[in-house]
Amino acid sequence: MVSIKTVAVLGGTGNLGPAIVTELVSAGFSVTGVTREGSTNSTPKYPDGLPVQRVDFGSFDALKTVFDGQDAVVSVVGFPGLAGQKLAIDAAIAAGVKRFIPSEFGVNTQKARGTTIGNLLAVKIGVTDYLAEKAEANPGFTWTALTTGHFFDWALENGYYGIDLKAKTAVIVDAGNEKAHSSNLAQIGRSVAGILKHPDETANKYLGTASFNAAQNEVIALVEELAGIKLTVESVKSADLHKTGQEKLAAGDPRAFSDFLKEFAFAEGKGNAISEEESANALVGVPYESLRDTVTAWLKKAGLI
Ligand SMILES: NC(=O)c1ccc[n+]([C@@H]2O[C@H](COP(=O)([O-])OP(=O)(O)OC[C@H]3O[C@@H](n4cnc5c(N)ncnc54)[C@H](OP(=O)(O)O)[C@@H]3O)[C@@H](O)[C@H]2O)c1
Repeated sequence: MVSIKTVAVLGGTGNLGPAIVTELVSAGFSVTGVTREGSTNSTPKYPDGLPVQRVDFGSFDALKTVFDGQDAVVSVVGFPGLAGQKLAIDAAIAAGVKRFIPSEFGVNTQKARGTTIGNLLAVKIGVTDYLAEKAEANPGFTWTALTTGHFFDWALENGYYGIDLKAKTAVIVDAGNEKAHSSNLAQIGRSVAGILKHPDETANKYLGTASFNAAQNEVIALVEELAGIKLTVESVKSADLHKTGQEKLAAGDPRAFSDFLKEFAFAEGKGNAISEEESANALVGVPYESLRDTVTAWLKKAGLI
């Protein structure tokens, strides 16, 4: 039976990383932050007292030295760092790391294989394929990848969910009734900790966890009920999102990703919610959350209730 106690976190300073670091620390893991040489992110973002190593992410030797003595490596690097994870995986194997969790999260790239959004996320698919190959060839080395759907509370707060509380407007896709796979940041952190607490059951698997599946109309109805306001709702057709996404792609505009993401998550009949049978919440010991409580917390923070 594998036991994981020490965990190195790469890129723990971004949108998602701090929630993962916080939940790993509170689950009792001994966490080291690994940040790029020259990065200015780490000081305010890592919790006080957390050991932080500054490393050249392009150096196998430097990464191996940092990974020596670590049971697991969790990568939360942002998009520009995704391809570099292969070198980190090689260094982790050489250092005797038992589990590598890549920067996957978000969209289920296994379901998206062969689609336009899957092609835009090909680097993530390449990394999970690489991990599977390496685990096959290196007994003792294992991996787990985690899909989480939308970063729900983060998207609400940062305006990516399409609800503008100040303007009292919302934008939905099609009829707004498609259930979308959604996870709050802390829930993702708890899921990563849960994976490392259950290393045998989660070895060499592509898993998904969630806070809940939520339709845009459900979220809008909760906002209206809880805050006592009426939102003006505009609908965009998923077919139009697909078309504008293709146009942006052809023009080399990276904002195409957002159109395809909305189509993947919210287009009527897409079926990309995560069912209870598919989800690993029970496997990693992380209960679902309440959509109502999440929306309530957001509205409280916004001073509306
Ligand atoms: N589903 C969603 O709604 C959603 C939303 C956003 C992100 N995601 C996914 O979640 C993961 C993390 O995203 P994030 O938004 O938290 O990332 P992020 O904030 O953009 O970046 C995270 C960290 O990566 C490190 N980093 C930046 N450039 C790097 C490079 N070239 N090489 C290596 N490391 C680099 C930085 O850490 P240091 O400066 O400390 O080195 C940075 O703080 C990604 O896989 C992303 O695709 C999903």
